[in-house]
Amino acid sequence: MKKLVVANWKMNPQTIEEANNIFSGIKRTAQKITGVETVICPPFLYISAFKLKDSLVKLGAQDAFWVNPLAGKGPYTGEISPDMLKMAGVKYVIIGHSERRENFGETNEMVNKKVKAALESGLKVILCVGEKERDHEHAYLRFIKTELEEGLRGIKKTNFKNLVIAYEPIWAIGKKGAEADSPESVLQMSIYIRRVLQPIVGKELTHDLPIIYGGSAEPVNAEAFLKEGKVQGFLVGHASLKPEQFNEILKIANES
Ligand code: PGA
Repeated sequence: MKKLVVANWKMNPQTIEEANNIFSGIKRTAQKITGVETVICPPFLYISAFKLKDSLVKLGAQDAFWVNPLAGKGPYTGEISPDMLKMAGVKYVIIGHSERRENFGETNEMVNKKVKAALESGLKVILCVGEKERDHEHAYLRFIKTELEEGLRGIKKTNFKNLVIAYEPIWAIGKKGAEADSPESVLQMSIYIRRVLQPIVGKELTHDLPIIYGGSAEPVNAEAFLKEGKVQGFLVGHASLKPEQFNEILKIANES
């Protein structure tokens, strides 16, 4: 199976020129890398600017609303629907990123509605889960279980083939590579996540479902996460704005 490496640009960069530069810098390398599915998630505003023709790079969005105007009405000022994204050439969407949960009060119920609408549109959904902190009593495991169970409630089993889980411990986001989670702990976490997913998603799909790691993924730790942590790829924040760093991660993923 191909690795999946997703660039989460967040609210960056400031200008369309810079966005185009970063995009072309990544595209040049991604073009030659066949063992990796490369996805770039820019701010909504830049999505239509990128020329994807003949490119291996896929486009993603950082969020999507839970109502599709094609299925109903859309009086939702400021929102973007999964159908609109699909028509703009988007293939993936990140849902439930911890920054949206924290800054915009997104609950598991809201995340669930978004996951549902996006999957129904045919987008591939990268559902983010992760704990704020680890405690000795392991309450954080229950927290992640709830995020998964409530986030995926009532979704058609056939739609799960388009689901990816991004495990992103919040305490490891936006740090340095050395402060990321450890590969051993991410391996344990993926095993746990698959155990929780099995009754929801079904045995077979759970086995094939990609689990990617996010939280200061950088060239320095990428190989260990892939080899020892056995992740299927990465959700990359700060390092995705620097083509030389992101491309390095792509190369490592291609070879691991
Ligand atoms: P980071 O961000 O790589 O800067 O830690 C990851 C994310 O928030 O998706």
